[in-house]
Amino acid sequence: MQRDVIIACDFKSAEDTFKFLDLFRDEARKPFLKIGMELFYAEGPEIVREIKRRGHKIFLDLKLHDIPNTVKKAMAVLSRLDVDMCNVHAAGTIEMMKAALEGLTRADGTRPLLIAVTQLTSTSEERMRSELLIDASINDTIVKYAQNTRDAGLDGVVCSPLEAGMVHAACGEGFLTITPGVRFADGDVADQVRVTTPARAREIGSDFIVVGRPITAAEDPVAAYRRCVAEFVG
Ligand code: C5P
Repeated sequence: MQRDVIIACDFKSAEDTFKFLDLFRDEARKPFLKIGMELFYAEGPEIVREIKRRGHKIFLDLKLHDIPNTVKKAMAVLSRLDVDMCNVHAAGTIEMMKAALEGLTRADGTRPLLIAVTQLTSTSEERMRSELLIDASINDTIVKYAQNTRDAGLDGVVCSPLEAGMVHAACGEGFLTITPGVRFADGDVADQVRVTTPARAREIGSDFIVVGRPITAAEDPVAAYRRCVAEFVG
């Protein structure tokens, strides 16, 4: 799997998104983009189609978590949208993840990559214990959820770049790690806590880094994207 930089398009509207994407019109390398809930719920599937028409790969980050039959049917719809990567919550169980994979697989056997969220980075060990009644450590939980994800036949997990080595050790080098929380060494951390640079993420073994504000809020987003690619992809 080729390492790549995925830009998180955390914009509120199609207008803002296309204003940003227009900056990349002349780039030889069309950036891989992440579309999340805010933009998808605001603009619907048409924004996915339009971005595909412009030649970008898309990670549709909708984090599905429901009964297996519902997830399977929803995934079949997303698969017809021709996205390149989508995701579910591993907490939905192995059965749900298998159903997601089935729904996603097209008649000709092809399908987008499917990855799972283990524990959200916003969930602390303390809250896991007091609210979710999970007594295991956060790292043990992440490894177990990653193993469940692999056993269900999915392609990888979203995790912190600092956890990518641990996940690869438990699930194999071919199991993908998609990692947000990336900042330039001289950049603003904003609200992220456990961050690392694109170069360090590469050393630890991330397969894809998801980068939002260091690119979208940069004075020159194209230059920031190029810098990310140079550091991470090489
Ligand atoms: O702007 P920034 O680089 O912090 O954006 C990171 C992106 O990755 C955002 O879309 C954020 O929602 C997402 N993300 C994250 N941490 C997670 C999962 C997703 O930052 N654990």
